[in-house]
Amino acid sequence: MKEKLEQIKAEALKQIENSDALEKLNEIRINYLGKKGELTAVLKSMKDVAPHERPKIGQMVNDTREEIERVLEQHIGQMEKALREAKMKKEVIDVTLPGKKNNVGHRHPNTIALEEVERIFIGMGYEVVEGPEVEKDYYNFEALNIPKDHPARDEQDTFYITEDIVLRTQTSPVQVREMEKGKLPVRMIAPGRVFRSDEVDATHSPSFHQIEGLVVDKNITFADLKGTLAEFAKELFGEDTKVKFRPHHFPFTEPSAEVDVTCFKCGGKGCRFCKGSGWIEILGCGMVHPDVLKRCDIDPDEYSGFAFGVGLERIALLKYEIDDMRLLYENDSRFLKQF
Ligand code: DAH
Repeated sequence: MKEKLEQIKAEALKQIENSDALEKLNEIRINYLGKKGELTAVLKSMKDVAPHERPKIGQMVNDTREEIERVLEQHIGQMEKALREAKMKKEVIDVTLPGKKNNVGHRHPNTIALEEVERIFIGMGYEVVEGPEVEKDYYNFEALNIPKDHPARDEQDTFYITEDIVLRTQTSPVQVREMEKGKLPVRMIAPGRVFRSDEVDATHSPSFHQIEGLVVDKNITFADLKGTLAEFAKELFGEDTKVKFRPHHFPFTEPSAEVDVTCFKCGGKGCRFCKGSGWIEILGCGMVHPDVLKRCDIDPDEYSGFAFGVGLERIALLKYEIDDMRLLYENDSRFLKQF
């Protein structure tokens, strides 16, 4: 019996010594000390032992149990400590490491330019409004003095959805929608996407953006138009910017003009940007045509107004000295990161 106990102990201690995981130690506990374990089996066989030997053998079984338990606990303790230390080592935080840079997105140059234009006009008391991109022929053309046979309607320029629904080719229809509301005076800008059936190149795209402007009130004159747009150009391109109003024609304004600004790059001497002329065209404008006012139920004898249309991409390209419009649409993050 004694030898058997010695043997059990030696075997258990050897297994404990060789085990490398907590689960294994638990298994050993069950195998030796559990209800169906080897030591319990020995206890059960006590009935075969001579009665006077029983206390001694009992004591030996207890000693063996205690010894195995003690060594087990010791190993479990060591193993848990090692695990804890490994975990701490793995999770250690080096507060001296440089921080991770948070990559937030960049605003698109178009967005930056638009916000700048909006800021300027809001500062002058304008409201920002929007109109639909899919537009009735009436608003895009008819109401703006562009009848059915007008060359501006050339199918090459316009995407038709149906015979009388188009993708708007300009933001000017928002003028009509705003005036139709019948709330006067009007002082608004309307930014938005426009569509033309153009081939893509450095200065053209089938989809681009315009910012429409409209003021309607009593006693609005061309002087108001000039003053407003000169102020706008100076705020956008710098105090020294000069503006030039060149006579032009638009069906919905009379008189009409195009506005050039002195080249911000060369100051007017002539350079690559202004193609040697010293001037850069930035928008179209004019006094709202009386027929357009009439169609919106506004009496041209009582009210007058001015309107303008700015190409947003053009402003962004000029402001950031980008020489190819395609860069604005490709969304290459190496390009966008620069703004
Ligand atoms: N809608 C014109 C275009 O797309 C631009 C324009 C010119 C708008 C004169 C206006 C304006 O409001 O008065 O070319």
